[in-house]
Amino acid sequence: MALMASEQASVFRQRVDEMVGRHPVVVANPYTPWFATGGATLDDVRHLTVQFSVFSHEFVVAQLRKVLNAADLATYRAGKEILLNELGVVFKPQKAHDDDEPAAPDSELVATEGTVEGGRFRFQAAHFEWLLRFAAPIGLGFNDLGKRRLATAPTLFFCDELMRLYGSEDPVTAEGASYAVEHWAAAGFWKELIGGLEQVRDRERLAIPLSFWTWHDRVEDQHAAHTSDELSAAYAMADFDEDRFLAGASKMLDGVLAFWAGLANDRHPS
Ligand SMILES: [Fe+2]
Repeated sequence: MALMASEQASVFRQRVDEMVGRHPVVVANPYTPWFATGGATLDDVRHLTVQFSVFSHEFVVAQLRKVLNAADLATYRAGKEILLNELGVVFKPQKAHDDDEPAAPDSELVATEGTVEGGRFRFQAAHFEWLLRFAAPIGLGFNDLGKRRLATAPTLFFCDELMRLYGSEDPVTAEGASYAVEHWAAAGFWKELIGGLEQVRDRERLAIPLSFWTWHDRVEDQHAAHTSDELSAAYAMADFDEDRFLAGASKMLDGVLAFWAGLANDRHPS
């Protein structure tokens, strides 16, 4: 029985890897490889920042929905780890002492793993506040960021798909979407954005703190190592259904693609 289940699981894993691995957003992102070359103007960077900030805020709502719709207590808690960290609770590394926590929550030293249980809330550790500090030197203030009214149509489409799929009431669809989002995030786009931002920063002689981007990149390097466990856990869910999982994953990646294609369309003419 067990052997049979694990064989089925590995066939399914292949199906998922093929779908995700061949999706255009993973194979040929229309924006981030270009951005990595450093060709973006300051206006391009501002536009990216505004659109990303709306996604970043809407993600918090989608994450809350994912928590509320979780299929079991373990998933509910795993979702809260992400949600509360996003809002400003610093991860407490296992076996850490209180005084190990860095004084500046924006620092490169803020932990990328651990737990929010017993962690400390700091306003300045909210990911949105990191983005505010990144955006200030390029002329963007609080009201220029994070609001739905600032989003382009493709960004809104992506955010609404995130709400519908990642925050789905159907846990199988939500797990599929979640797997897709992590795969997308682990595909290297953070590094491409960081590479491009460093070039723009140096060219324009700007003192822009990149920790919003570099912190997320460090997290994804760890996630990449965990995704195969997540697939096994999803497969073991009570009402698991391969097609619903794959549909959630594939539609979510279409949403991600729409976001980047929108940015690619809006960039300055080269
Ligand atoms: Fe974040």
